[in-house]
Amino acid sequence: MIHTICYSSKAVDGLEKEALEGIYNKTYTNNSLRNVTGILLFELGNFFQVLEGDKDIIMPLYENKIKNDPRHHSIFEIINRPKQKALFSNYSTDFNIVRTAEQLETINAYLKDNKVSTSEKIQRLIQPFLLLP
Ligand SMILES: Cc1cc2nc3c(=O)[nH]c(=O)nc-3n(C[C@H](O)[C@H](O)[C@H](O)COP(=O)(O)O)c2cc1C
Repeated sequence: MIHTICYSSKAVDGLEKEALEGIYNKTYTNNSLRNVTGILLFELGNFFQVLEGDKDIIMPLYENKIKNDPRHHSIFEIINRPKQKALFSNYSTDFNIVRTAEQLETINAYLKDNKVSTSEKIQRLIQPFLLLP
C-alpha cells in the first residue's frame, strides 16, 4: 500500500519567480530521493500537487512541511487516502515538476490511457490548467 495526497492551494501574493524555482528545486530533489512520485503545477497563482509514496514519508511531509509553508495558503485537500498502487510511478520514477503546456499535455494523455478512479479525477482537475495560454 502507498499513500496518495492531492490538493490545490494559492500562492502568496507577489511570489517571485526565484521563490517558485526554489520550491520546484527542493520538491524535485527531496521527492525523487525519497521515492515520492506525482506532479506539481503552478498557474495564475494556483498550485496543484499530487504526492504518492510511503505513508511514513508522505504524511509528515504534507502535515509538517507543506501545510506550514508560508509561501502558500488556502490549501484545499482533494485526496488523502491509501492506494494499492502509485499512479505516476509508471509515468516517471522521478517527481514531475510541470513547467510547460507540452508536459501537461503528455500527463493528460497518460491519465487518459490509465483509467482508474484517481486518474479520472486528476484528469478533470488539471483541465483548467490545460486551457491556459
Ligand atoms: C506548493 C508547495 C509544494 C511543496 N511540495 C513539496 C514537496 O513535495 N516536497 C518537499 O520536500 N517540499 C515541498 N515543498 C517545500 C516544503 O514546504 C519545505 O520548504 C521543504 O520540504 C523543506 O525541505 P528541507 O527540510 O529539506 O529543507 C513545497 C512547498 C510549496 C509551497
